[in-house]
Amino acid sequence: MLQTRTRRRAWIAGFVTVVMASAGFLLSSQFAHAQSTLRAAATAIGKDIGVAVDVGKLQNDSTYRNLVATEFNSVTAENVMKMDTVQPSQGQFNFGPGDTLVDFAQQNDQSVYGHTLVWHSQAPGWVRNLSGDALRQAMQDHITTTMNHWEGDIFAWDVVNEVVGDDNGQLRDSFWLQGLGEGYIAQAFQYARQADSEADLYMNDYSIDGINAKSDRYYQLAQGLVEQGLLDGMGFQAHLILGQVPGDMEANLQRFADLGLKVRVTELDIRIDMPADSNELQRQAQDFERVVDICKGIADCSGVTVWGLRDGDSWVPDVFDGQGAPLLFNDDGSPKPAHTAVLEALGGGEGDPTTGAPTTSPPPTGAGCSAAIEVVNDWGSGWQANVSVTAGDGGVNGWTLDWTWPDGQSISSSWNVDIAQTGSSVTASDVGWNGTVASGQTREAFGFVGSGSSAEPAVTCTAL
Ligand code: G3I
Repeated sequence: MLQTRTRRRAWIAGFVTVVMASAGFLLSSQFAHAQSTLRAAATAIGKDIGVAVDVGKLQNDSTYRNLVATEFNSVTAENVMKMDTVQPSQGQFNFGPGDTLVDFAQQNDQSVYGHTLVWHSQAPGWVRNLSGDALRQAMQDHITTTMNHWEGDIFAWDVVNEVVGDDNGQLRDSFWLQGLGEGYIAQAFQYARQADSEADLYMNDYSIDGINAKSDRYYQLAQGLVEQGLLDGMGFQAHLILGQVPGDMEANLQRFADLGLKVRVTELDIRIDMPADSNELQRQAQDFERVVDICKGIADCSGVTVWGLRDGDSWVPDVFDGQGAPLLFNDDGSPKPAHTAVLEALGGGEGDPTTGAPTTSPPPTGAGCSAAIEVVNDWGSGWQANVSVTAGDGGVNGWTLDWTWPDGQSISSSWNVDIAQTGSSVTASDVGWNGTVASGQTREAFGFVGSGSSAEPAVTCTAL
């Protein structure tokens, strides 16, 4: 995993009355001890927190782009590294969309997990019509050309995806199996090893999160591939249902780790019958926390990737009628209780993991509000700051922050906030849902990416 340089600073806004100096100090020391993004918290404990990325949204949606950049240290292409995109016609390779993701990841010091080389789904028509030597050659060409293209950029690949069916641990009856026989799995790994000897090679599937006939079959396959030195990791997709994190998930992942493999939760989402009520969202937070805890507890668990960013980005409602809300962010980009829970499980955050409640900070004396700007990531050419707002007596129902950059800095992007920049003057206002802060409470309000020096601004918070 690429390491980010992380420098932590907290800039404390002036309270509109003079009594905030001491409260500001307390906020400063409090923030010095906890990471406030998933990314910073995961990086601090040497784990990946990943997200499956839709490249179209990455290009066109700034809220999406900023959350992907600031909350995750690893990315996976949700679709664009699959065979139907990469090689839509035989011998015609289309790496453009995948390159867009790789470039983005490199600009943001994120690792890229490759998904996927050999899969029965999202495979182009031309390859489905081959068999025997022609199919074997096509498999080799696809693996070799794709892995060579992204050699050094992609640290791990799902070499084969979903090769076991749902029927009592039988191999999936795919065109790959029909055309090549059982040996195609080991063959795919041989080609992958030859193509890029540095990349970690994984198998990946769903419904293998606990111990069952399907995961037992993978265990057998893994033993064979490990003996041949062909397998490095096992991916557990973890497309889960609320309340159904398998009780033996930790034992299951551990048995694969005990074979000398890395393990990874590769496609985590936890779906709920819609509409989801607040109680279900709290229980979902606990389920997410449990999965992250499991990975944290296994030294060879390389990380957890969530399968999509905001609830509305998920594949779930398209496939499971009446189910949804399976991810960490609401559609407006605001964090769900599950986000707070994952942050806490990774060792960051300061809120209550089961409620997602805003952090309580020492209540300021008097009315009005104060704000704290905390730099949580610094990658040299830019830095990310998170901003919290604390309400004085009576709470606030909207806030505006004003500051003037002392040293020519600027904001290149922001989320969960309306920002107006005129020269070096900045005005930042709430976007509705994050305007309300109860009396004496602090809430994580918004974030931004800045460029230029880190000289501290003097910030004024005005309560509405
Ligand atoms: O791009 C077209 C668009 O042009 C068209 O208008 C639209 C109409 O339906 O379809 C779009 O393509 C869709 C594509 O996602 C991009 O959104 C496909 O129909 C749709 O089938 C495809 O679904 C993807 C699915 O894999 C395909 O099997 C999901 O986004 C993706 O999340 C899902 O991911 C899989 C993992 O790869 C493997 N594990 C299971 C996981 C969930 O199914």
